[in-house]
Amino acid sequence: MKAIVVKDQTAGAAGMELVERPEPRPAINDVLVEVYAAGYVPTEIDWPSTWKDRAGQDRAPSILGHEFAGVVSALGYGTTGLSVGQRVFGISDWHRNGTLAEYVAVESRNLAPLPGDVDFTVGASLPISGLTAWQGLFDHGHLKSGQTVLAHGAAGAVGTMVTQLARETGAYVIGTGRAGDRQKALDFGAHEFLDLDNDSLEDLGAVDLVFDVIGGTIQERSAGLIRAGGTLVTVTGLADVRPKEGLAVDFVVESIPAQLVEIVQRVRDGRLQTNIGNIATLENAVAALNPIERRNGKTIITMRS
Ligand SMILES: NC(=O)c1ccc[n+]([C@@H]2O[C@H](COP(=O)([O-])OP(=O)(O)OC[C@H]3O[C@@H](n4cnc5c(N)ncnc54)[C@H](OP(=O)(O)O)[C@@H]3O)[C@@H](O)[C@H]2O)c1
Repeated sequence: MKAIVVKDQTAGAAGMELVERPEPRPAINDVLVEVYAAGYVPTEIDWPSTWKDRAGQDRAPSILGHEFAGVVSALGYGTTGLSVGQRVFGISDWHRNGTLAEYVAVESRNLAPLPGDVDFTVGASLPISGLTAWQGLFDHGHLKSGQTVLAHGAAGAVGTMVTQLARETGAYVIGTGRAGDRQKALDFGAHEFLDLDNDSLEDLGAVDLVFDVIGGTIQERSAGLIRAGGTLVTVTGLADVRPKEGLAVDFVVESIPAQLVEIVQRVRDGRLQTNIGNIATLENAVAALNPIERRNGKTIITMRS
């Protein structure tokens, strides 16, 4: 099968190659999935799990990509709950070969059914950004109606999901990003927008929840805005910073199929829009995943239509 691999950590994203690899075999409790479309998070190259397995052994060449939509083509021993021919989507294990490939072997417990009226490209765009937003807002941030959310990177893949889910919950959403992101953030539902390059974060006043996807000094300065009982939620690693009278949570998104079912239902009934930028074939994936221009949404790679 064809797959996008990386072999050399020092080469970064430029080291991606389209190669022929053997089809994976489904292990116990796995399904083998024929991948129709896959998403990609640009920081994957820097994740330790791209280079080492759980035992700390080198695992390169690694197949990239960990979110996808496709069709089950075989079941491993003991696998229950899914059938051959079923449309599915979800997150694959960070430490195993990924989804920028024609086939992937995944534990069935990580997958949710993809409804027949949802395109594979849309399905592939939802798992990482949708679940990250859901878990950050609800599981870790305990968001309630009437609260104020500061959604950093509000025009990005995670940020657009955060904005829409927070707004649906009845929160007041302040989106941030670069100057050119203003209209997109507002279109995705932010009540107001703060341009991080030109406006002052400190002028915002108090918020209940900061959803950080940027880290560094933006994260540190945001901690000071959180009112008593509020939460700083980040997915970029926690700096040495805490809200004075609140919580700070750094988390890695988990594969929770019941939440995927909630997310995809919102897409079907129009409450949630996905944020897809470029769509490219597997043959053109290396160029698409190393864009010269700024990305405008999640890049989706398609294997079949
Ligand atoms: N821990 C987890 O489980 C988890 C899960 C998902 C994502 N993540 C992480 O979350 C981050 C965002 O992911 P994503 O998929 O949403 O990426 P994305 O689509 O690139 O969105 C990030 C947005 O934030 C903007 N941004 C970044 N730095 C900024 C700055 N200093 N000032 C203003 N705007 C800035 C980006 O603009 P530019 O493109 O111009 O920089 C982009 O619009 C990544 O670091 C990713 O690794 C972690």
